[in-house]
Amino acid sequence: MSIGEVPATLVLLGATGDLAARYLLPALTRMHVAGQLPENFAVLGVSRDRLDDAGFRAEAATALRTHAADVPGPQRDAMVARMRYAVADVTSSAALRAVLDSATPPVLVYLALPHTLFAPVISALGRIGLPAGSRLVVEKPFGVDLADAQTLNQLALGVLEEEAIYRVDHFLARQTVLNLIGLRFANRIFEPVWHAGHVQSVDIVFDETLGLEGRANYYDSAGALRDMIQNHLLQLLCLVAMEPPTSLSERDLRDRKLDVLRAVRPLDRAEVMAGTVRGRYSAGCVQGRELPAYVDEPGVDPDHGTETFAQVRLFVDNWRWAGVPFTLRSGKALGRARREIAVTFREVPHLTFGADEPVPSDVLRLGLDPDRIGLEINLNGAGDPFALERADLAAEFPPVELPPYSQVLAAVLAGDSTLSIRGDEAEESWRVVEPILQVWSDGGVPFHDYPAGSNGPVPDTSQQQPHRLPHRS
Ligand code: BG6
Repeated sequence: MSIGEVPATLVLLGATGDLAARYLLPALTRMHVAGQLPENFAVLGVSRDRLDDAGFRAEAATALRTHAADVPGPQRDAMVARMRYAVADVTSSAALRAVLDSATPPVLVYLALPHTLFAPVISALGRIGLPAGSRLVVEKPFGVDLADAQTLNQLALGVLEEEAIYRVDHFLARQTVLNLIGLRFANRIFEPVWHAGHVQSVDIVFDETLGLEGRANYYDSAGALRDMIQNHLLQLLCLVAMEPPTSLSERDLRDRKLDVLRAVRPLDRAEVMAGTVRGRYSAGCVQGRELPAYVDEPGVDPDHGTETFAQVRLFVDNWRWAGVPFTLRSGKALGRARREIAVTFREVPHLTFGADEPVPSDVLRLGLDPDRIGLEINLNGAGDPFALERADLAAEFPPVELPPYSQVLAAVLAGDSTLSIRGDEAEESWRVVEPILQVWSDGGVPFHDYPAGSNGPVPDTSQQQPHRLPHRS
């Protein structure tokens, strides 16, 4: 799987941004602690902010004190000592050339930048070229629409070959997401019922309690549909719906995911109007924390009409899934952090017990954070053997040593694309989302405001509470 020499320098474009502080520098630090960084591996932070090496290291140390607080101080210091800094306008090829000239090759160029900068930066890299053996990592969303993703793919292929381009998605490195592959394909009991004949619906939900968190610079030109659904949640849909891959090689896995994306029915206008919801949080209180309305958050332009909540209902038009609704939902500043994939099975064809109420369907829930797998089924209750009770057979998983971003970076260093999205997958994902973007942009679907701390603009219907069922008298 691995290609070429291991990169010697991570050239981190956008090094003073939120992504670097919150995810990348902590992930690198944990890799350092786990002995997963090559001995002389260096980080060259780059941004327009007027800092020197010492200033950047001080900022990095502050970020690590917050976001890698459990790592012992000397280990954090050792990671910070690997860092250098260069001031540059990353859209200028002359500035980038100077940056690259100061970095030990091969380099791993990481675009931890707002997506609106991807095209100018990749163009600039194309003009100067990268040293042999280099790799390019691009964050999500990969573009703003299909045409933009196509342009980005062309530009990126002008810099490096597809094998050296990593469109990363850290959701693919989540413990439960990888467990989904094991659950489906390392057991006999799920796959025979994993189709429209037995599955009634699938809900893929990532509700967050966090609000904007000072990320207007990026988020206000993205919104929930581009930030979460076009990439993370569609990738999860692919793993739920794909046919069994022959192996977990980059090609087999990504071919099967692509098949799913190609089978997702493009929504027509009426389907977008009936099957999608968008919303934006108004002022409220989330778990004791007062949040202003999204439009009053610093840096937000209300004219952008950015949504902080998106829900879409999709259908995978193939033999396995015809007619099964897949509901993808994600929102910010919600009252409860529900993060899961819920597969709801159909009702039993005949209920031997003759209960007074309909018996709830079996639900398989894969919790994404905390990581958990639970199977809710109906059993004979304790005491009265003819009464049915709901049971939740659950396995809880302790947090893994290395967070998803460490896994993503380790894979890139190893030259393994399994946790990255291939260019054709990125384009197909935009094909799925584009009709929704179009109807939303012309106002065909109304904006629903929801108070921060609430359940969002639509009721969260898929959460079935376990309950006792009365038996026939
Ligand atoms: C990021 C999104 O990719 O994923 C954020 O940009 C979101 O808006 C985040 O909050 C959620 O992932 P995690 O790993 O922080 O739970």
